[in-house]
Amino acid sequence: MPNDAPGAHHSPDSPSGSALPTSGAARPADAVLIDKYGRQVTYLRLSITDRCDFRCRYCMAEEMEFLPRAQVLTLEECLRLASAFVELGVSKLRITGGEPLVRRNAIWLLERLTHLPGLRELVMTTNGSQLARFAPALRAAGVRRINISLDTLRAERFRRITRVGDLSRVLAGIAAARTAGFERLKINTVLLRGVNDDEICDLVRFAIAQEVDIAFIEQMPFGELGQSRRASFLSSDEALALLRADFVLVPSAESTGGPARYWRIPGQATRVGFIAPHSHNFCAACNRVRVSARGELFPCLGSNDAVHLLPLLRAHPADDAPVRAAIAQGMGFKPKGHEFGHRLDAPHLVRFMSMTGG
Ligand code: 5AD
Ligand code: SF4
Repeated sequence: MPNDAPGAHHSPDSPSGSALPTSGAARPADAVLIDKYGRQVTYLRLSITDRCDFRCRYCMAEEMEFLPRAQVLTLEECLRLASAFVELGVSKLRITGGEPLVRRNAIWLLERLTHLPGLRELVMTTNGSQLARFAPALRAAGVRRINISLDTLRAERFRRITRVGDLSRVLAGIAAARTAGFERLKINTVLLRGVNDDEICDLVRFAIAQEVDIAFIEQMPFGELGQSRRASFLSSDEALALLRADFVLVPSAESTGGPARYWRIPGQATRVGFIAPHSHNFCAACNRVRVSARGELFPCLGSNDAVHLLPLLRAHPADDAPVRAAIAQGMGFKPKGHEFGHRLDAPHLVRFMSMTGG
């Protein structure tokens, strides 16, 4: 188990919750985050831990060195940061990791995030391993939707992809999430040629049976992939063609403002999405930024430019104005389009998905 597993630590960051964010009194009412291309940032993806109880091959090295505790945002700092972003106009917050549910007291944080004035959507991405235990608490804390990663329905294959994961726990987690009554559940499947390309139709059938959405994600240049990514890369277009052998797919106009395109299957509630980060089409409408577990603001997933917010939080424990100013400044680093993945042999970004948050 990772060190950050529930129950593994003896000192919660602050069980009393005393370090609440300072108010945004100094901020003009219309302060918003607009980048130099005129895009307004309304969506923050916040990673609350770099740790995970899985070691997916496309995400992590087998022997990952995780950050020392002191370099990771405390839960109070997560709350202060999220609060600053919401004051600056962010209305949607996705909690990610690593695996967010291995962070001790994650529920404490969610219960507080829910109440940030101006926040409209609190959602989470999880690997599902802890959901059987936490789904009801997540729902009660106000999490509206969950994305659950699932690349295969075969236990042995699941173990091979995640190196250590147990499929039955994730399936139990999905069942618990369904019972807990989220507004929507979505399965995220990374497309892997030669690994799960023969299961794409089965995964859609599973999504239909479970009454959840499913999104297929093109593999991005993270983790320990090197040469192997070239061999295992499967495009959305190819996956769509595979699906069309078994399903009628009707394009849907729905858009999340992100890199997903959705399709519907007549007569079914399930939506089938394709996330093609290698396409540039969505950058013009990008509304999101990421903050890593160590408090780096990444204006674009495809760029290593980051603004380090953690030192500011610690230097000004009772004043959020400096961190708000740094966030606003960070918008200047948001590039017009991302820089990875145009070519499969493009150099890999020197960071892991678990660092930035999925
Ligand atoms: N390419 C695409 N998706 C990835 N994820 C992690 N690493 C990669 C990668 N290299 C996905 C996970 C999960 C989400 C958090 O990010 O599968 O769905
Ligand atoms: Fe963990 Fe998700 Fe990365 Fe897999 S992809 S190792 S579940 S953070």
